[in-house]
Amino acid sequence: MAERGESGSKVGAEIGLKTGLLDRAGAGLPFALASDQETAWIEVIRKMDEVYADLLRYETELEDKNTALEEAQAFISSVIEAVSDVLIVCDRDGRVLQINPAAMQLLGCRSEDVAQRSLADLLDPADRRQAAALVGAQASSDVVNLEVRFVTAHGPSDLYAVNAATRHDPTGVRVGTVLTARPIGELRRAYEALHAAHSKLQRAQRQLIEQEKMASLGRLVAGVAHELNNPISFIYGNIHTLERYRKRLSNYLQALHGDADAEEIAALRRELRIDALLDDYGSLIEGTLEGATRVSDVVKNLRRLSFSKPGEMQSIDVERVLRTAALWATRAKPGHVALSFDLEPELAVMGHEGQFHQIIVNLIDNAIDAVRGQVAPSITISARRQGDDITITIADNGHGLSEAAIDLLFEPFFTTKPVGEGTGLGLWISYGIAREHGGSLSAANRPEGGAAFVLTLPAG
Ligand SMILES: Nc1ncnc2c1ncn2[C@@H]1O[C@H](COP(=O)(O)OP(=O)(O)O)[C@@H](O)[C@H]1O
Ligand SMILES: [Mg+2]
Repeated sequence: MAERGESGSKVGAEIGLKTGLLDRAGAGLPFALASDQETAWIEVIRKMDEVYADLLRYETELEDKNTALEEAQAFISSVIEAVSDVLIVCDRDGRVLQINPAAMQLLGCRSEDVAQRSLADLLDPADRRQAAALVGAQASSDVVNLEVRFVTAHGPSDLYAVNAATRHDPTGVRVGTVLTARPIGELRRAYEALHAAHSKLQRAQRQLIEQEKMASLGRLVAGVAHELNNPISFIYGNIHTLERYRKRLSNYLQALHGDADAEEIAALRRELRIDALLDDYGSLIEGTLEGATRVSDVVKNLRRLSFSKPGEMQSIDVERVLRTAALWATRAKPGHVALSFDLEPELAVMGHEGQFHQIIVNLIDNAIDAVRGQVAPSITISARRQGDDITITIADNGHGLSEAAIDLLFEPFFTTKPVGEGTGLGLWISYGIAREHGGSLSAANRPEGGAAFVLTLPAG
């Protein structure tokens, strides 16, 4: 400002000097002419003063604007410098106009080194074809997103995600492109590591589910084996007895058709206990047949389980499944548990028999584990019709459910059993099956102690 004041007074002094010269020049003219000329000169000087004052004002305004412009420029520069993303500004033909410090650091050069070079020159040769797409967007709404590598002093850079947006002049004409780029190599590697870990976890989970399936199949097979063992062993016993009877009968028949007399035959009949043998024969055959029927029933139940296709819903006899599942599940585990049934007659559910059986085996299996160590372990299985649903309750007098367990019971992998004994998948799988059937599975502690699991399925 001081400078401007000084220069102002210098110009003023010059004008004053000129005015004085003109005054002297006009001194010899006639009065009227001199006064006219003087008036004109005064007018000129007044105009000049006005113009000069305007000039001064414009100069002040210009300097103010200049300062504002410099401040705005400094602000923009500081923003651009602070941007950690790589920033490249190109003209309409894809020639570089300016790059920010992050770009200089990446490319290992100054902005002026790359100015006017084609954007393609900054990209790794393998990605050069992409340059046209990056600077080719026409409409302002076209934002191009690509992944490229840049050329650096040490070879190709990491992978960068580049975002290219069109740049316009104040009248809206497209004048070029602004590219922002951010390294994604690290992110990509982290993502890939995460993806690999996730896949591994999924594989492990599938394996565990398979293991749980194999374990429940194992329990089923153990139960079935016990269940078959009993009739098969008495069929064996009966057949051995029948074989002994056959030999005695054969001896007796030989004596009968040989040359033995009646007395000898009567003695032999007493000795071989032929009459007792004949009395026993009927019940032996009956017992063997009963054993065979039990074996055949077990096989029929097994076939029902294994031949019903998943997703194929059918009406299932609730009592039959509850009794077989309970029998097989208890047979599969050591120790005695008192099982009692409280079932409304002729209940049926709609569902897949194998899966329904699997839920019941899982629930009874857990109940057997829970009652272990109780003085009089017992499990009660009841079933009722409630409207359109059948409600099956499996109640035990075991240790019950802790607060934490109640919240987590149906979560996969929740188990309180030692490693190798529990997978924590039984209830999760059972819950899923119940939901797929349009039913539900819930659990609560009983007021008298122990837990009760309630399975609801649509009536069939
Ligand atoms: N009848 C029950 N009484 C008490 N706790 C139970 C009962 N049933 C299940 N639980 C609890 O729920 C957990 C999860 O059961 P489950 O999903 O079948 O897995 P797992 O039997 O392999 O542990 C069990 O470890 C146990 O803590
Ligand atoms: Mg279980």
